Amino acid sequence: MTDRYEQLVEIAQALVAPGKGILAIDESGGTIKKRFDSVGVESTEANRLDYRSMMLSTEGLGTHISGAILFDETIRQQLPDGTSLVSLMEQAGILPGIKVDKGAKAMAGFEDEKVTEGLDGLRERLAEYAELGAKFAKWRAVITIGDEIPSRACIDANAHALARYAALCQEAGIVPIVEPEVLMDGDHDLDTSFDVTEATLKALFVQLYEQNVMLEGLVLKASMVISGSEAQDRAGVEEVAEATVDCLLNAVPAATAGVVFLSGGQDDVEATCHLDAMNKMGDMPWPLSFSYGRALQAECLKTWAADPKANREKAQQILLHRARMNGLAALGEWSE
Ligand code: 13P
Repeated sequence: MTDRYEQLVEIAQALVAPGKGILAIDESGGTIKKRFDSVGVESTEANRLDYRSMMLSTEGLGTHISGAILFDETIRQQLPDGTSLVSLMEQAGILPGIKVDKGAKAMAGFEDEKVTEGLDGLRERLAEYAELGAKFAKWRAVITIGDEIPSRACIDANAHALARYAALCQEAGIVPIVEPEVLMDGDHDLDTSFDVTEATLKALFVQLYEQNVMLEGLVLKASMVISGSEAQDRAGVEEVAEATVDCLLNAVPAATAGVVFLSGGQDDVEATCHLDAMNKMGDMPWPLSFSYGRALQAECLKTWAADPKANREKAQQILLHRARMNGLAALGEWSE
């Protein structure tokens, strides 16, 4: 066992330690503007720093949050007193992570499908992020369900890029979170979500194998198997939990350090409830936890935005509560 192998395994296991999950606050410039617009806050660098540092300074957050995923701007930011956000996180026992993809772009020749870019120069960027304190990274691929899509070409191109990214991360001593998100958008049923998620995960793990990625030092960020957001008769909690676990058992090798879910448009309590139902099903080959963005931040953001100064502590308490509820769900111990 090399030192690097052991270091990767240790970080990956810490990310999915019992009762802990990940806070995703890595919205790109465009996405954070959309979120701020929805609550009437201007997306300036100062406001983004105020909002994100407010969340990261929440007392006790490290009890339920193992790591937080940052955007390039955030990993370089400092508080007015000169404390970097990275050292704030280190003090709170929260591992710093970094989004390194350059976004999902239109895939040439494949209408309505996307392929994620960002491999050029990635080795050099990872070396810099490691210097800045990043212990793990994230790359998100987007798979869209629709008429005759996803295509095999889209699934394979994204799986290949995810594996190339993961290999470069491990070379740099950074744990890769691989995120092939099957979008919830559309009116598809649960079976379609199952089939597309299974095909996507199987293609991904073939590529990870072929490109020598070490699964013990990798975390999968998966979307749940769930009815489309516009579907009639959407599947209930038990069905979603069973289909998701069934799909993962079919496609994710047991050596994988852990699986964390994205929330992808589910509301806060729904995301907690689904995770809890899965963990109540009994022992799994891997820890099942969370890496939520919207489902952790939605209420916190609204409260902060209403009055950033006066509501600071209230917003922190709301975030802490959701983190605690999801921590319980990661243990299958949550109740409404
Ligand atoms: P959501 O939980 O809001 O889907 O965000 C998680 C994430 O990091 C998507 O890449």
